[in-house]
Amino acid sequence: MQAKKRYLLLFSCCAFLSFGYFGYRHFKSHRQNKWYQHLSHYSEDLDLVHDEDISPSPRFRNRRTTGDHDNTVTFKGCTMESCFDFTLCEKDFKVYVYPIDDNASPSSSYMKVLNIIQDSNYYTSDPSQACIFVLSLDTLDRDTLSKEYVRNMPHRIQRLPLWNNGQNHIIFNLYSGTFPEYTEDLGFDVGKAILAKASISHENFRMGFDISLPLFHKTHPERGGDDGYLESNKFPGTKKYLLSFKGKRYVYGIGSETRNSLYHLHNERDIVLLTTCKHGDSWKEYKDERCDHDNAEYDRYDYEVLMRNSTFCLVPRGRRLGSFRFLEVLQAGCIPVLLANGWELPFSEVIDWSQSTIQADERLLLQVPDIVRSINASQMLQMRQQTQLMWNQYFSSIQKIVHSTLEIVADRVRRHRARPLSVWNSSPGALAINYSFSDYLPHFPFYLTSLGMTSCTRYTAVISVSHGGSNPVHTTPLYKLVKNIARSKYVERIVVVWTSNQVAPTESRLPGGSIPVHIVVATDNSISARHHPHSLVTTDAVFSLDEDVSLTTDELDFAFTVWRTFPDRIVGYPARSHHWDDSKSGWSYTSRWTNSYSLVLTGAAVYHRYWQHVYTYQSPSGLLSTVKTTSNCDDILMNFLVSAITRRPPIKLTQRKQYKDNVSEARWIWTDPSHFHQRSVCLNTFVSLMGHMPLRHSNLRLDPVLFKDKVSMQRKKYRQIEKIGS
Ligand SMILES: *[C@@H]1O[C@H](CO)[C@@H](O)[C@H](O)[C@H]1NC(C)=O
Ligand SMILES: *[C@@H]1O[C@H](CO)[C@@H](O)[C@H](O)[C@H]1NC(C)=O
Ligand SMILES: *[C@@H]1O[C@H](CO)[C@@H](O)[C@H](O)[C@H]1NC(C)=O
Ligand SMILES: *[C@@H]1O[C@H](CO)[C@@H](O)[C@H](O)[C@H]1NC(C)=O
Repeated sequence: MQAKKRYLLLFSCCAFLSFGYFGYRHFKSHRQNKWYQHLSHYSEDLDLVHDEDISPSPRFRNRRTTGDHDNTVTFKGCTMESCFDFTLCEKDFKVYVYPIDDNASPSSSYMKVLNIIQDSNYYTSDPSQACIFVLSLDTLDRDTLSKEYVRNMPHRIQRLPLWNNGQNHIIFNLYSGTFPEYTEDLGFDVGKAILAKASISHENFRMGFDISLPLFHKTHPERGGDDGYLESNKFPGTKKYLLSFKGKRYVYGIGSETRNSLYHLHNERDIVLLTTCKHGDSWKEYKDERCDHDNAEYDRYDYEVLMRNSTFCLVPRGRRLGSFRFLEVLQAGCIPVLLANGWELPFSEVIDWSQSTIQADERLLLQVPDIVRSINASQMLQMRQQTQLMWNQYFSSIQKIVHSTLEIVADRVRRHRARPLSVWNSSPGALAINYSFSDYLPHFPFYLTSLGMTSCTRYTAVISVSHGGSNPVHTTPLYKLVKNIARSKYVERIVVVWTSNQVAPTESRLPGGSIPVHIVVATDNSISARHHPHSLVTTDAVFSLDEDVSLTTDELDFAFTVWRTFPDRIVGYPARSHHWDDSKSGWSYTSRWTNSYSLVLTGAAVYHRYWQHVYTYQSPSGLLSTVKTTSNCDDILMNFLVSAITRRPPIKLTQRKQYKDNVSEARWIWTDPSHFHQRSVCLNTFVSLMGHMPLRHSNLRLDPVLFKDKVSMQRKKYRQIEKIGS
């Protein structure tokens, strides 16, 4: 029947942008394209002054570098094969963090890096289990003029018993060198350590060994972080300005040439390039004849508004190669036009920046307008979307930056099993793919459609029986449910997860018919047991059910059919919503029927088996223990985890009328009036632990085909729903 796959789709506003475009794109070795590498190094002998990013003021201008700056050479030739000990990583990819030395406490930024590692699944407190070592000595800022510069570093490092000439260590660094050279030397011998460094140049970058970091601000969020600002994908997506820049102009010194020439391109119409000479204490001493005019023009535009209303944004080098602007522009959904010859771009080993940036040549500045005008509308939209993908997946918080750094090394350690670059460069990104689950991409819920494959044709029903104590389990609804499931066309097996403290019935008493029924008694009585990846669950689809749910066979089949079209979402019947409550200054949970929802409860929902793995092994720390101590909110947590990764809402199905009051939460209402309060508390706890609110609202509801149409019963696909309902 033609109507077989037809659903009545009711959607007024589907709050998601479909970024997921997948396609195995081989990286062109972008290195080869950087023809300017062969040219002599720009800026080698220039008079370098203070850096815009760290800005020790110019009064230091005449102070030479002092202290322990012994210009040591790094192991130039280091490769993973020659400098890294793979045997330490054979068991697991674990990261050890040195105990903090009280005499040299880390800066707040570095403290965040260390906290993130210690809170992560990578962390081990046992160095004998570690594959990677991270110093607690703060190496982020190696500018000798900086307050955060740690002195006597060579001496401090040599004292570390586990140092082993830096083998298997990662050293994080944002700033190196100082006036006047801004060298990339850290002031100590990093030995065989992997350098994870911002503003690193091709010539110092040990390909396949070091990792280029983005420069991030002190105020960059530790966890979570805001999404990119792109809200519309209208086509053609031309914005008010074609190209813009608003920033400091160095009148002299390294990085000054480009910025000094920008005024040639400024036309006040579609190209707006604004500079100010006002920075540092003594700008007046150095001001030139253009400064006053430039400064006045500069003040006419707002930085943020300009950036958001521009299609392309110039990202010229600062005193160092990288700048904060790079991440700001990326988040704003403005396509970066990079002018930083020789800069090794952040995470260049895995990110194909040609999909989201224009890499221009500093010395050919005047060609930039022609280059950006030659980008056609579809390419432009694709690049703009890709900026958001990259920002959201790898850069929006320090946590993501640190995890990405570690995952790049983890991929190297896996060698032949590394995730393909297409996974890094498409949605939902490499951080969402845990290869411990599987190294076969179709086993994940994300790639089936793009690989042209369909999900498997059967589901495993997982029924959770959790009543206990004063509420005896009424086995009648359970038996009825098992019976209905056993009649389903698509069921593979029924697993009853028994967390009640009453004695479980024998398997043979459950009316499964020809469908195998298993009873699994959860040993720890935790309500999370239902989401545990049990070896009996072999299908991609898990139909998660409460034992007192009354779903007909038709409703089960319909839910599963819908899920096959949306295998990355939670698809189910009882929906709930959350909202921000100003009076409580917090998030609030509600079961009221509104025009939108953001959660689908797992008492009657289908989800992919991978989410069980994510729930059990990848929940950010503290979340599972909240579920355990409250014996509540496991379904909220599942929705959080799925939405955080997919950035999409769940999908609600139409339920029979009388059904709505009986699902999931009905029993709580009688037993525990604080239930709803508890769930709001959970929401807020989860948000604070994750650093953001991942849930998304949706107005989409899917109805079974011909559900309410006046056609004969025989023609209806889901007849039982009609008979029983309303
Ligand atoms: C410029 O950006 C602001 C803030 O995002 C927005 O309100 C405004 O409508 C934009 N103007 C144009 C012309 O796009
Ligand atoms: C836009 O540019 C891309 C890349 O240069 C090209 O592949 C594509 O065919 C162009 N599209 C149109 C509509 O011209
Ligand atoms: C990946 O899954 C394994 C369990 O299979 C877990 O131990 C590990 O922590 C997970 N990795 C991450 C980065 O979450
Ligand atoms: C819903 O609950 C009410 C009261 O608890 C009960 O009378 C009714 O039979 C239930 N309906 C279903 C479909 O289980």
